[in-house]
Amino acid sequence: MAKDPVRVLVTGAAGQIGYALVPMIARGVMLGADQPVILHMLDIPPAAEALNGVKMELVDAAFPLLKGVVATTDVVEACTGVNVAVMVGGFPRKEGMERKDVMSKNVSIYKSQASALEKHAAANCKVLVVANPANTNALILKEFAPSIPEKNISCLTRLDHNRALGQISERLGVQVSDVKNVIIWGNHSSTQYPDVNHATVTTPSGDKAVRELVADDAWLNGEFISTVQQRGAAIIKARKFSSALSAASSACDHIRDWVLGTPQGTWVSMGVYFDGSYNVPAGLIYSFPVTCANGEWTIVQGLPIDEFSRKKLDLTGEELFEEKALAYSCLF
Ligand code: NAD
Ligand code: LMR
Repeated sequence: MAKDPVRVLVTGAAGQIGYALVPMIARGVMLGADQPVILHMLDIPPAAEALNGVKMELVDAAFPLLKGVVATTDVVEACTGVNVAVMVGGFPRKEGMERKDVMSKNVSIYKSQASALEKHAAANCKVLVVANPANTNALILKEFAPSIPEKNISCLTRLDHNRALGQISERLGVQVSDVKNVIIWGNHSSTQYPDVNHATVTTPSGDKAVRELVADDAWLNGEFISTVQQRGAAIIKARKFSSALSAASSACDHIRDWVLGTPQGTWVSMGVYFDGSYNVPAGLIYSFPVTCANGEWTIVQGLPIDEFSRKKLDLTGEELFEEKALAYSCLF
């Protein structure tokens, strides 16, 4: 029997990421090839005409799984009944800016859209914040939507996770699908800590540690980390626009694994509201290694953290507390 459609909200749907993301969702990349969807697309009035153009293209593409499209500039209409909300709406940074430089414009959007989601989304709606500063926007959304369960609000660090997999795959000349269990700790910013201490590569003779195969700690503790941390800036420099297809694809990965589960023996990175795991002070949306099953994420516990890593976990946590304070100062 055919499944009932799932309603998926994409805010900022007339923008770059939105344009890459909505066809992926309509093709089943996010929720599975047997899951019909109804797309809710929100943008602001100046983008209404472009948004309507995206709707026309979705109709023209005749996606078999797409059972309806709501294209609107009305936040309440956009949020009503949605089961999944991908929050992309906001302003991207330009060359030379840090992601927190778009803070004042973006956090107020997340404060106001929090209440619309809280009042009008389906119970148990899963929320993914993509717009920067992603962790802090997600935190503001959580704080201003107190009736949405904390476990349902997350931010995107899967793009950083995928970037780390990509760098290891390029360095070793192995398939990216054979690399697993990298970790992105902390903020989706240049203080994030991409950690390969527990990462492995599947080889014909079993799983091997990335550190052993790369055999170059100077690279792993230096250039590898800074390349992943600075990849967003490198894309902006090259394209003059921030990443879009990789962001859209990673957003699909994030929701797919959250809803359908992570493969056995594999974890992924998600920005989540947490309980003080790994001695990171609670009260933030911080990226951790997680496994997912039955629609719930669980932080992978008990991984040893060496002194080098400890410093990096603390540094990115400190930046998140600073961002939180800055966000509140922008809101009040
Ligand atoms: P974009 O400017 O192309 O699109 C953003 C869209 O949001 C625009 O259409 C704009 O009209 C719309 N918008 C603005 N205010 C809105 C509001 N109040 N409600 C609904 N829509 C609104 O930008 P983009 O390249 O698509 O990037 C979107 C965001 O995602 C940026 O903040 C960017 O920095 C961020 N980003 C995050 C990641 C990540 O990994 N977390 C990766 C890439 C980009
Ligand atoms: C990215 O990581 O590509 C995005 O967060 C965009 C940016 O500003 O870097």
